This record gives sequence, structure tokens and C-alpha cells, in this order.
Amino acid sequence: MTRYLITSALPYINGMKHLGNLVGSMLPADVYARFLRLEGEEVLFICATDEHGTPAEIAALEEGLDVKTYCDIQHQRQKDVYMRFGLSFDYFGRSSSPQNHELTQHFYRMLDKHGFIEERGIQQIYSLDDERFLPDRYVIGTCPKCGYDRARGDQCESCASLLNPSELVEPRSAVSGSRNLELRTSKHLFLKLDTLSSEIENWVKSNTHWPKLTYSVAMKWLNEGLQPRCITRDLSWGVPVPREGYENKVFYVWFDAPIEYVGATKEWADQDPANRDWRSWWYDAGDVYYAQFMAKDNLPFHTIVWPATILGTREPWTMADYIKGFNWLNYYGGKFSTSQGRGVFMDDALDILPPDYWRYFLMSIAPETDDSDFTWDLFASVVNKDLAGTLGNFVNRTLKLVASRLGTTIPEGGRWGEHEDKLLAQCKESIEEYRTALRNFEFRKAALALKKLWTHGNVYIDARAPWNLLKDDPAEAALVLRTCINLIRTYAIASSPLIPFTSEALFDALGMTAWERKAGLDDALDLTALEGGRPFEVPPILFRRLDPDEVETHRKRFAGVEG
Ligand code: MF3
Ligand code: ZN
Repeated sequence: MTRYLITSALPYINGMKHLGNLVGSMLPADVYARFLRLEGEEVLFICATDEHGTPAEIAALEEGLDVKTYCDIQHQRQKDVYMRFGLSFDYFGRSSSPQNHELTQHFYRMLDKHGFIEERGIQQIYSLDDERFLPDRYVIGTCPKCGYDRARGDQCESCASLLNPSELVEPRSAVSGSRNLELRTSKHLFLKLDTLSSEIENWVKSNTHWPKLTYSVAMKWLNEGLQPRCITRDLSWGVPVPREGYENKVFYVWFDAPIEYVGATKEWADQDPANRDWRSWWYDAGDVYYAQFMAKDNLPFHTIVWPATILGTREPWTMADYIKGFNWLNYYGGKFSTSQGRGVFMDDALDILPPDYWRYFLMSIAPETDDSDFTWDLFASVVNKDLAGTLGNFVNRTLKLVASRLGTTIPEGGRWGEHEDKLLAQCKESIEEYRTALRNFEFRKAALALKKLWTHGNVYIDARAPWNLLKDDPAEAALVLRTCINLIRTYAIASSPLIPFTSEALFDALGMTAWERKAGLDDALDLTALEGGRPFEVPPILFRRLDPDEVETHRKRFAGVEG
């Protein structure tokens, strides 16, 4: 049987992530992992903080902490907010772990052994005012390709071109803004992407089923011609380079970061070595289907550089079967910006509303085929219509009606009939749609199918009007209400990948046992599972509506300094 390995791009250690980061990698990966578990599949879902490199060094410097302490604090902060969002990682590791150090050095040694590493003297930018070499992303300037004036030396955020700092027009230090920069020469190691080019191309071309975005980014890269890429840096924070003359250098953060997918799995296994086998997932793992999730700026690294790193080891490391890339989630047409305080960060989001509001909303607008736009109006309208108006309303009206008229036990009596057949057929169709969407990594479609499923309940209860039947035909009323309560169970099971906390609240309300909660998507379609006579509770309002005043308050608060 196939086992599923799922990774989300590893969030950088520096700072709280925003909703754009969440929707582009960790959340869809979580929804996919939860969905597969619901289908009874064996899943290993791995993530970690990406801790090396200059961003961490500089942020630590700014906070007056040594970089290790800074990372310890930030890792815990991020981990905490991900748990609160219900991200169900089997393990959330750290790229600074000893496991990753060891693996990174191993990958390097294998690449070197097989002739894919070369040494070159390179000129690097040294900032006289900052008294340090400036790694690529700490040189900023104008992009030579698109003219964006805050392009970083490693990549232009605007057009996603990978750059070298020396290509930037009017370069300056991101640390101090100083233009007092000079080139100094030192020796560095390069990964010979050019030599591996045709192998990478064969691999990419064997993956035509990838999403268009992923495939086209990869092909664009290949068509432009691959150049050797520098994998070392003049820094002290990172994985040491095991080679003479490299005592003051470390590997480039992008070299060791993807290796941490493996490293984090080893961290996971090392916590319970008797029962966990990291190698079985990563090395010569014929039965593993591996899905990666990331935003589009990460695609070149995952379709070209990381596969090249693996291919060059000449060892059978697990390569991605599917690479799901996302476009950008914008905030009122512009970028989410940490420095300008624009947009909503994950911790702020949870101060405002519980995780499921965000999870459902974000999946319903996932930037899959194009960029999408966060606005508070849209958020409020989705929450009010879908969550409060459709799902919440159905649950509350059903359980309240039964409780007030018949008491808090599931009513007995009545005979299943053609109305119920029709309802079941509709649910089956929506669940099939939902399943197909999720199997195909189509998250917007999945959210839509789920919403459709929720709608059937309201249509059914309105058509059957049990509030009238209670007088005229109590047995029939019992059937209808019992079926509605079972539908709540259906919703709780089926919705759990997107809104797991709500699912639990519904399971609680229905008094379901731990075993009953393990039901899968097919079991969800049993509309007679909960029999008459079982007690239930009326839960508090599932979702609250957002009114225009509140929307306005949030809009102002998160508009940022320039908004
Ligand atoms: N930290 C990177 C980013 O936020 C992603 C690293 S993904 C990995 O863009 F594969 F390299 F780990
Ligand atoms: Zn550009």
C-alpha cells in the first residue's frame, strides 16, 4: 500500500508568518494530510523552521540576542501558533538540528565524491560600514529584469527571477543602507547544475501531471540554461563545510533547508527509534508518494536545485511525486508586508477569531490558478454566508428545534423514504466532488464542494418542514430530525480537514465516542449511523457573524503605515 509523505515549505525563523504564508504552503498541506488520514491512508506530515542564513543573524543582532537563543525563542513561538491553527504536523523540526547538520554534510560529501562540486574564487560584496560580507539577500537594488527597485541580491520578489547581487543596479546594504560596498574575492563551492541539467530535465519531463504553474516554472529555468550555483557563504551561523580552507564558512541556507525535510524526519524518528524509521520514508522508498507544498517563489529551488542535489548524490533519496505551487495572496491588491505592518499575521488572526474561520476562508480563496486578494469585506461575507449562514445555521436550528420540542435525545420513529434517498444521493455527489478535488490538490474546489454539502441540509429541512410535521405526523418529524442530526455527523466527519476544531465541537455535541470519531469519508455517508434514543447537547453558536462596523475596525487596524 502507498504511504504518503507530505512536506510544507519550511518557514523562515525570523518573525511571525502572515496569512499569505499560511495559505501558500502549511495550510493546504495540512488539509491534504488530514484528508488522507480521513481516507485511512498512512501519512507522515513534516515541517520545520528554516533557521540558518543572514535573516536569522540580522534579526538576532537587532534584538540583541545571540543567534541560537533568538532561534530557540522564535521556533517555539512559531510552533505554538501553528499548533493553535490546528496544523497537524507529525513533526515540526529545526534546520539547525544536529540531524540536519550531519545529513547536509553527507549530501555535500556525496556530491563532491561524484564530481558535482567545483571550487571557484568569487567576488562578494563586502560592506565597509557594516564590516562584513553581505550575503545575497542583504544586498538590495534595482532588478535588471523588471526594474523593481527593492530586489534582493538572491531573488527579485516582483518577477521571481533568481539573481546574483552583482547584477543589481545601484546596489546597497540592506543592513545599513550604505552604498559603501566593495567586491572582495574568496573561495567558494559550487554545485554543478549545468552538468546535471539533462538529468533534471528528464525528471521534470516525467512529471507532466504537475500543476501548470510548477511545470512552467521548471521548464522556464531549464530553457534559460542552468549555471553552477554557489552553495557556501562567509558566515558563522549555519552548517560547517567539511573541507580544508572552509573553516570560516558555512553552507548556504538554501543548500541545507530542503535537506531538513529529511533531517526533521530523522529528528522525529530519533524521539522513538524503536517504532519510527526515517529511512523507510526517504531512502529507497518505493511505496512512498511524496507531495510538496509551497508558494511560487520556492518553485525553482524545489523543481531544479533540490532535485539536482539529490540526483548528484547518486543515492536513491525520495523525490517529489507532486509539487503544489501557489500564487500570492495579496492584501487589498498589494503585498502583505511585515516591515510596514500591512496585512494580518497569524497570531493577530487568532486574537480576532478562532482558527476554523481562517482555515475555511483561506481555502475558499486559495491562490491556485492566479493571485487572490484578501479583503475584510470578502472575509466577512464568506464567514457570514458559508460558515454562519449555512453550516452554523443548520446545526443550530436542527438541534435547538429538537431540544425545545422533544428534548435532548435523538428522536425515534418514522420510515426512511424517497426524500431521504434524494438527500443521500446529493450528499454522495458532493462528497465525491470533494474527494476528487482533494485527491487532485484542488483546494478551492474542495471548499466549494464542502459548501454544497452543507447546503443540502438547509434545503432538506426547509422542504420537509419538521416544525409542521411535529403536529401532523410526529413519526415523520422524528425521521426528518433524526436524519438532520445524522447529517450533522456527516458534516463533522467530512469537514474535518478544513475545520477540525468545529468537527470536534460537533462530535462533542453528538456525544460520539473516540471510535465513532474515526469514521472515514465513506462512513460519513451513513445517514442512519446515530440511532434514536442517543443523547445530544445543543452546542453554543458555532460561528458568529461579522458586522460592518467590525469589518471597518479591522480594515483600519491592519492597513499598515501607508494605508
Ligand atoms: N524558508 C524558505 C522560504 O520561506 C523556504 C524553504 S523551503 C525548503 O521561502 F525546502 F528549502 F526548506
Ligand atoms: Zn524583477
